[in-house]
Amino acid sequence: MEKRVLVAGASGALGLEILQLLKEQELPVRALVFSEDGASKVAPYTTDVWRADASKGEEAIGGITRGITHIISALGKSVSLFTTKGSSFEDIDFKGNQYILEDALGNEVQRFIYISIKGADTATEYEIAKVHKMFEDNLRTSGLDYTIVRPVGFFSGLNDLAIMAKRGIIPMVGDGHARTNSIHQKDLAEKVVSLLDDGPNLIEVGGPKIHTRKEMAEMLQEVIGGKIVSVPEKLADWGMILPEIISSNMADKLDYFKHITSHDMIGEKTGKITFRDYLQSLDINKLP
Ligand SMILES: NC(=O)c1ccc[n+]([C@@H]2O[C@H](COP(=O)([O-])OP(=O)(O)OC[C@H]3O[C@@H](n4cnc5c(N)ncnc54)[C@H](OP(=O)(O)O)[C@@H]3O)[C@@H](O)[C@H]2O)c1
Repeated sequence: MEKRVLVAGASGALGLEILQLLKEQELPVRALVFSEDGASKVAPYTTDVWRADASKGEEAIGGITRGITHIISALGKSVSLFTTKGSSFEDIDFKGNQYILEDALGNEVQRFIYISIKGADTATEYEIAKVHKMFEDNLRTSGLDYTIVRPVGFFSGLNDLAIMAKRGIIPMVGDGHARTNSIHQKDLAEKVVSLLDDGPNLIEVGGPKIHTRKEMAEMLQEVIGGKIVSVPEKLADWGMILPEIISSNMADKLDYFKHITSHDMIGEKTGKITFRDYLQSLDINKLP
């Protein structure tokens, strides 16, 4: 069968970078997206687009892996504090991926690459980590050839901090000594696509430079401005900084945000783009 790749979550920050690389390799691609906006973002890369709510299962995505040999899934509920659309992390990250896996097992899919999250195994008291781990476990025992990629935070995810900096406040959880090597989604996509045909069952991926959260806050301040402040613990206090947070699922996002920013989150050093490069490439006028 001709090689054909299903990219789930194709219109996301990571998904779009993956589409770009697969296009350069001239590989036929099917893209799964949720929204109309998502469908328009993937249009330059493929005409084989499924727009569906993966969490609805068979009725929405039955047959999605027919004719597919490889799956890359970057399908998940947005972890951004500024996005409130869609249903729960369990419905999207777990059930959505589970329905794709079940469909794959009935077709001729050879390999499944799943984008999980750093902390999926160690921070399962948090909903986001827990649901990624639930799917990891099912993929592991499915019988399919697979690689699970657990990335640290993407630079696109740090856009939230850039927005807050523009609004005048850079929140820093705890003493800011926790370290991470966040990664540009383009560098991560390169790693993911390099695993298309073969790879280890599990890889934890980070960017080229390790920084403390305090160093990152200082870089944000230097490039965008804003005052570095210790994060208040109470959700209500967050509401003063970010009016958008008063919604369901937001507590899950904030809990995990607080966790990752107060614990070391370090993956295998990968790629070239640094946090400073990323900040300097942002068009600050376009931040909300
Ligand atoms: N961002 C980070 O810092 C980070 C760090 C580690 C791991 N991860 C994980 O990596 C994955 C990709 O992250 P990302 O930041 O690239 O995500 P993203 O930008 O929020 O994109 C999510 C993608 O999933 C699609 N989607 C959402 N709900 C759907 C549904 N019900 N049915 C079908 N498609 C749906 C979206 O489609 P539309 O665009 O049409 O809505 C979009 O293509 C996620 O699983 C995330 O948990 C992210």
